[in-house]
Amino acid sequence: MRPARALIDLAALRHNYRLARELGGRKALAVIKADAYGHGAVRCARALQDEADGFGVACIEEALELREAGIRGPILLLEGFFEADELALIEAHDLCFVVQAQWQIDALERARPARAYTVWLKLDSGMHRLGLDASVYRSSLHRLQAMPHVREVVAMTHFARADELDSARTREQLAVFRQTCDELELPCSLSNSPALLGWPGMAAEWGRPGLMLYGATPFTGAHPVADRLRPVMTVSSKVIAVRELAAGEPIGYGARFVTSRPSRIGVVAIGYADGYPQFAPNGTPVAIDGQPGELVARVSMDMLTVDLTDHPGAGLGSHVELWGDQVRASHLASRAATSAYRLFCGLKRVPRSYIGD
Ligand SMILES: Cc1ncc(COP(=O)(O)O)c(C=O)c1O
Repeated sequence: MRPARALIDLAALRHNYRLARELGGRKALAVIKADAYGHGAVRCARALQDEADGFGVACIEEALELREAGIRGPILLLEGFFEADELALIEAHDLCFVVQAQWQIDALERARPARAYTVWLKLDSGMHRLGLDASVYRSSLHRLQAMPHVREVVAMTHFARADELDSARTREQLAVFRQTCDELELPCSLSNSPALLGWPGMAAEWGRPGLMLYGATPFTGAHPVADRLRPVMTVSSKVIAVRELAAGEPIGYGARFVTSRPSRIGVVAIGYADGYPQFAPNGTPVAIDGQPGELVARVSMDMLTVDLTDHPGAGLGSHVELWGDQVRASHLASRAATSAYRLFCGLKRVPRSYIGD
């Protein structure tokens, strides 16, 4: 069997969830959309079920997968419903949803559900993706509050640049939110992972951690709080061939690496079709049998190559970690001009196994 594997540590996931809740205020909505950022939504939800205050997903299909797997408790559709006819399923499965546009409020006015809805009313405080403009936020809230079938409204917004700790933008967005929502006496939800980790003093009823649950820092450098996270996913494979090459020999497509000395090169069974960054440069860190090592040459679809010259004990069958405990996903991502979000969500074809249940 092909040796590429992703090991998911559910105890680390719970540790990170607890940190998110400690930082965020009262409750934390575990964001497990996109198959829990590639970690397996059902397994992650089950691992968190006893302690999570709720789960956030992108769409009703993802919510139904969780309900069908027996996940109870609040599930929030982060983009709301895409079509009004989803409201029947929303009611049947007792889902909460974001309201981000006027047409959704119009649709809710026409709805006659038997069970009342919990609605998260999204303010566009400056990201300009989803959400209502501040000028219509209060009137929209009053329309919702006038509906007998709306039982609770949570005020929410989303930050665009909270991972940039020296940017004024997060405070500006916060000011817009406070100006619009402070007197409304609603439960509030503001913070994603970078805001929870890097912007103390924004505590609200609900935090919405995603990336940090999976143990990756959203910041580029060391950070005292983010450094408390534990990586959840470790992706590894094995050396399936070893080449002994003289100095001056090219390796792989495009000869992007040429040996500068007599070299031992290990071929590892994982590639960009599995989600490893195709354009990771020479010298990108890997761990070879637990020791720091380096990627060399261009990554192929199913394979990549590592330099074994300074690893005399390594050879056929050696274990190579691509990211995880030793090679942090965020570090690899910054070397390879991508993000930890993309690394996790891009993982394909690699069987997952779980520990820490
Ligand atoms: C509305 C909303 N809240 C929270 C999150 C979680 O963000 P992060 O993964 O940065 O914690 C996301 C993710 O994109 C989101 O769209």
